[in-house]
Amino acid sequence: MGKQNDIWVINGPNLNMLGKREPELYGSQSLSDIEEAAQKRAANHGLSLAWHQSNHEGQIIDWLQAARNDARSVILNAAGYTHSSVAIRDAFLLFEGPRLEIHLSNIYQREEFRHHSYLSDVATGIIAGFGATSYLLAIEAVADLLQDTP
Ligand code: DQA
Repeated sequence: MGKQNDIWVINGPNLNMLGKREPELYGSQSLSDIEEAAQKRAANHGLSLAWHQSNHEGQIIDWLQAARNDARSVILNAAGYTHSSVAIRDAFLLFEGPRLEIHLSNIYQREEFRHHSYLSDVATGIIAGFGATSYLLAIEAVADLLQDTP
């Protein structure tokens, strides 16, 4: 059976607070504003997109495992777990299609502890520092990558 969605976007902790949370860093758009723009961009490419957010590590791991059967690609903003979670890295690695790590902020311009990501060396590619546009750039990249993926 074919996979249900072309793209799963998985958002980690505190991203549900976008708009209210450090707007000078993360911008004034809410997560649902970003989702709306992402859905439009995916639809422009004829791609279906499922959007997820959780503050819980285990839920993110469950989604990454479920994505193996349900998604052709994964775009993950693991938020704070990027810098701490070996378990999310292991689940990310289990996903066999294109898997992108993204961030709104440029994590390398920020505190030292954000310079290490458990995801980067196992990601197909990384996009960071473009605010909400990071999500749209990731969709552009996936649209290209999926042309070569069954
Ligand atoms: C973030 C960067 C992380 O360091 C931070 O913990 C976040 C958001 C980003 O999108 O810029 O929660 O992933």
